[in-house]
This record gives sequence, structure tokens and C-alpha cells, in this order.
Amino acid sequence: MIGIKNSVVSLILDAQSLKELGEIKLQFLGRSGKLTVALKKITQLPLEKRKEVGQLANEVKRTIEETIEEKFLTLKSQLSIRKKEQIDTTAPGIKPKIGHLHPMTQVLYEVVDIFQSLGFQPADGPEIETDYYNFEVLNIPKDHPARDTQQTLFLDTRASSVNPGEVLLRTHTSNMQARIMEKAKPPLRVIVPGKVFRYEQVDASHGFEFWQLEGFMIDSNVSLTDLFGTLDYFCKQFFGQDTKVRFVAHNFPFVEPGAEAYVSCAVCKQKGCSFCKNSGWVELLGAGMIHPQVLRAVNIDPNKWQGFAFGTGLSRMATLKYQMDDLRLLTNPDLRILEQF
Ligand code: FA5
Repeated sequence: MIGIKNSVVSLILDAQSLKELGEIKLQFLGRSGKLTVALKKITQLPLEKRKEVGQLANEVKRTIEETIEEKFLTLKSQLSIRKKEQIDTTAPGIKPKIGHLHPMTQVLYEVVDIFQSLGFQPADGPEIETDYYNFEVLNIPKDHPARDTQQTLFLDTRASSVNPGEVLLRTHTSNMQARIMEKAKPPLRVIVPGKVFRYEQVDASHGFEFWQLEGFMIDSNVSLTDLFGTLDYFCKQFFGQDTKVRFVAHNFPFVEPGAEAYVSCAVCKQKGCSFCKNSGWVELLGAGMIHPQVLRAVNIDPNKWQGFAFGTGLSRMATLKYQMDDLRLLTNPDLRILEQF
């Protein structure tokens, strides 16, 4: 009996496959297997030997069964590891997920392209600005009521030698007008896209941090019709030829005359929605002829040169373009929103 046990155990341990293991099991534990037959023969033994031999036989059977079970598990796990390691070179590849540009960036590129086709050159500038470039040089002195229209976030300069109220987060991209005019001489055609910041009551069409695009042109024979023609052309190129553009007189201290442009609401197609506050029109930009005072402040002779300037709300343009009914979706990091564009 012990002889059977040892030879079976070594056979089991040497088995190389589940098939081989199955054959060994059959050979010893099957209905006419060697051990099964030996167990049956026990009944023929004299009574006094039967008990002792029976106990031994059961022990051998149990050992063989346990060894088979352990070997079965080892062979099975080896097989699954091998299966995992196998590379099927004919299987179709897994496509990697490729990201894409944020809708705001897509709009930015498109707008810049349109203005570049009209000869405007893009420029960049600081988001942290001095009171001088954001307000003073633009004909907005400290006590001017126009400051109230751009709720300003000032930087805490108490730990420095800078006077309180002198450094701020720019409230509009118009801060770049004088900076560029001081350095580059006319004729000029410039656009400045960038982020601006205001202490705003946030709603569907107002953010506290949003994008604007400033544009200005200075030449020797520029008039208001050049401004209106440029903006009308731009809006139709960007929003579609059926877009309606409306100009309304408006005061900005750094232009004279000044205007605001409204475009027909693309979100509701002028039926009325929360984005256009049920008016069918969305205020898109401020514009006008550059004030002679601004030109003089940067040493450009207003009798020789004239210019127009405009500042569009790029974030609003993105929401209108993609018919989003809320500007805050542009800063929502949820991929389910971003993957739609
Ligand atoms: C200005 O910022 C002027 N600098 C524009 C300008 C430039 C006038 C050059 C004349 C010459 P205003 O505050 O209206 O103007 O803002 C311009 C545009 O920015 C608005 O028409 C609107 O489209 C957008 N805008 C203003 N406030 C917000 C806001 N809180 N959230 C999103 N967009 C805004």
C-alpha cells in the first residue's frame, strides 16, 4: 500500500498537464483503478487484518486525492498565466484616447485667424497690471465714475513699497493699448487676447474671470465706418453670414465716439432665453474711435493719426458659438462637457 502511495505521489508531482493528471487519477482512483481494486480486496482479508489495512488504505487514498487537488490548482494557475502572457498579434489594436483643444482655445484660435487675415498681429500682455495702464492712461482718472463699471480686484501691496490701489488684476485687455502704442509706432493693427478679472456677480452670461480680445488699428485715414465694417465682417465670419449685428452708442472714456455691439442670440435664435435675458440680443463688445487724449499720452499726434479700438468678450463668443446656455460651463472641468466639443 505504501509502495502504491509513493509511486502515485511522484507520478502526480511529475505531471506536466491537466490531461496527464486526469489520466493518473483515472489509473488509480477510477472505477477499475489500481487503488480502487486494492480497496475492494480488503473485504477478502481475515477480520483481524481488515481494520488495520483498511485504515492504511484510506490514508493512502486521502493523500493521493489531496496531492491530485494541489497539483490541479498549480497546473491551472500556470496555464492562466501562460494564457495572459500570450500576445495575439492578429487582434485589433486598442486605440489610445487622444485629447483635443478646449472649446475656449478653439474659439481663440479661430478668432485670431480671422483677424490675422485682415492684417492684425497678435500680442500678449500682463494680467497683473498697474492702475496707470488699466485706467489712468485710458482717460479714467481715480475719481472717474467709469471705474464703477469695472469692479476691480486690487492686490494687497502692504508688505511692499507700492502704494495701495496701484497694482491690480487687469479688468480689461485695453490695458495693452498704451503699452503697445508706447513701443510700436503707427501704422498699427494689433489684437490682444487674454484673461481679465472683475469682482462680478456671476450669472449665466457673467464670469468673474473671463476672456476678452482687444483689437485696435491706427493709421492716417481711419474712420468709424472702418470700425463698423471690420466688426460686422468679423461677426459674420465667426457666427455665420445670417448673424445680425447692432451698434448702440455707448460711453467709454478712452474712445470718442463710443459704441457697443450686440449680436443676435445664437443660443435661442432670438426666441428668448436666460443667456440673452429674453431680449434676443447679446452684448458682445465695446468699441469706438481712440480718444485723442489717449494718443497724446503715448506721444502719437492725433492730428496725423486716427485709430479705432474694440474689446470683445471672448468667453461670451464661445458660449454663443456652441450654443451653451451658461458661460460657467467653460470653466467646468467635467470631461462629459468637454468631450462634446
Ligand atoms: C470693456 O472692457 C472695454 N475695455 C471694451 C472696449 C475696448 C471699449 C476698446 C472701447 C474700446 P466692457 O466692460 O463692456 O468693456 O466689456 C467688453 C465685453 O466683455 C462685453 O461686451 C462682454 O462681451 C464682455 N464681458 C464684460 N463683462 C463680462 C463678464 N463679467 N463675463 C463675461 N464677459 C464679460
